[in-house]
Amino acid sequence: MNIIPRPFEVKETGGICEYRGYEYELNPSLSEEEYILCVKNGNARAVCGSAKAEYYARLTLEQIKKGGKVPDCEIHDKPRFQHRGFMIDSARHYQELDEIKKFIKAMSELKMNIFHWHLSEDQGWRIESETHPELNSAAVRKYSDFGKTMSDKPYGIYYTKDEIRDVVEYAAQHFIDVIPEFDIPGHTSAFLSVFPEATCDGKKVEVKTHQGIFEDVICPAKEASARLVKDVFDELCELFPYGVYHLGGDEVKHAHWENCPDCKRKMQELGITSYNDYENYFLSLISDYLKTNGKKCIVWNDAVKGKGLDKDNMIVQYWLEKGNKTAEYANGGGKIILSPFTYYYLDYDYDITSLRKVLSFKPEIKGLDDTGRENVLGVEAPLWTEFIDNNERLEELAFPRIIAVACTAWQEEGFTYDEFLSNASDIIEKFKSDGFSFRSKEHWGYPKAHTLLGWIRFGRTFYNENLINL
Ligand code: ACM
Ligand code: ZN
Repeated sequence: MNIIPRPFEVKETGGICEYRGYEYELNPSLSEEEYILCVKNGNARAVCGSAKAEYYARLTLEQIKKGGKVPDCEIHDKPRFQHRGFMIDSARHYQELDEIKKFIKAMSELKMNIFHWHLSEDQGWRIESETHPELNSAAVRKYSDFGKTMSDKPYGIYYTKDEIRDVVEYAAQHFIDVIPEFDIPGHTSAFLSVFPEATCDGKKVEVKTHQGIFEDVICPAKEASARLVKDVFDELCELFPYGVYHLGGDEVKHAHWENCPDCKRKMQELGITSYNDYENYFLSLISDYLKTNGKKCIVWNDAVKGKGLDKDNMIVQYWLEKGNKTAEYANGGGKIILSPFTYYYLDYDYDITSLRKVLSFKPEIKGLDDTGRENVLGVEAPLWTEFIDNNERLEELAFPRIIAVACTAWQEEGFTYDEFLSNASDIIEKFKSDGFSFRSKEHWGYPKAHTLLGWIRFGRTFYNENLINL
C-alpha cells in the first residue's frame, strides 16, 4: 500500500476485495488527529478522534483504493507532531488566491495542518487595512529589482479582507489553521513607508525594490509604534481566528537605534543595555497585547539572542543559529518549531537541498535534552519568494520536496530515498494531474557531496542577479 505520509501502524490482514463502502464513528477517547481504519471484505470502517481525524482517515482510504478494490487492513494512525507547517512569502511576490488555495488543498492532502502566511515585508504590505487605509498604498513598490524577476513597472497589490476571510475559511474546510505573519520590528520598510512617526529619525522610508536586510526598522521608543502595530493586530484578530500569530523578529538591524535619542532614553528607562534585549522588549510588548486577545506568538529564533521572552506565550521558530540558544529555550520549557534552512527552506534549489536531503532530516537540533525534545511542536518548510514571481517556479520548488516534509512531520519512521520514490509515486501522479508543476526528476536525488556545487552555483547566480541592475 502506498500511503503518504507513512502511517503510525499498518497491518495488512490478507485479501483484497471490491470496495463496498465506508462508515465512521467519532470517538473522543482518541486524540484529535488519530484514527483507526479497518477494511474487511471491501467494507471500510473508521473510528476517529474528531472530524479532522475522519478527514485524514478518508484521505488514507482514497490512497489504498486501487481500480475499485481495497485490501483488508488495519491502520492505526496519528501524527508525531502537532505543528506540520508550510509557509509562503506573499510579500516579495504575491500569489493569486487560487494558487494559495491550490497549495492549501495539497497541504491538507499531505495531512499538514498549519499554513503560515508571510504578509508583510520591506518590499510590500499585503493586508487591507480599514483603520489605516494609507497602509494599502504600501503594497506597491516602484519597480522590482530581484535579478531575473526585474521589472520597471510598479508592482503590488494587497489581499482584501474578504479575500483573506475566503482563504481562512477554505483552509478551515481543509482542517488547516492559518498563522499570519506581520514581521516586526525589522523587515518593516513597507509599513514604515506610510508611518514615518514610527521610525527613529521621522524620515520617509521607501518600500524596497530588491532583496536584502535593511536598516529601516521600527523605533520601539516612539508612542506611535506600538499603537500602530496594535491597531494592525486588532484588524488581524478579526480575520485570523487561530490562536497563534507570527511576529517575525528576524534580522533586525540596530543602526538607527544606536543613533536615536529616544531609543537611548527608553533603554535607560528600562534598564536595558543590549539591543537584542531591546528588540525583545518590543516583541514582548506586542505579544503581551495579543495575549489579552487570547493569542500566543511565534518569533524567529533570532530573538533568543536577547532576554525577556515569555516562555509560556512565545514559540520560537528555529531557522539558523550560531550556538544552541534555541535548544536551551526548549530545554527550559519553551516551545519550538524546526525550520532549519539547510533542510527545509524550499526556495533553495534542489542542488543545495535535494529531495534526498529533505527526507534525511531527523527533526532535532543540537543540544536538546529530553524536555527540549518534548517541546518541539513540529516542523515547517518556508518558501521565500524574492526570486519567485510565477506559480510554475513556486510549485516546482515545493514539489516534490513538500511531500517529504509532510512525511518527516507526520511520522518518526521515515523513508529512504528509494522507498519514497516507490511509496510516493501515486501521490506524485495525483498532484501532477491536479496541475502542479514538479521539478524534473533528475534534480531530486543529488547526493550530499553535490551541495557544494549547488552553493557555488547559488553564489554565482545570486551575485549576478543582484548585480544586474547596479
Ligand atoms: C528568515 O529566513 N529571515 C527567517
Ligand atoms: Zn529610536
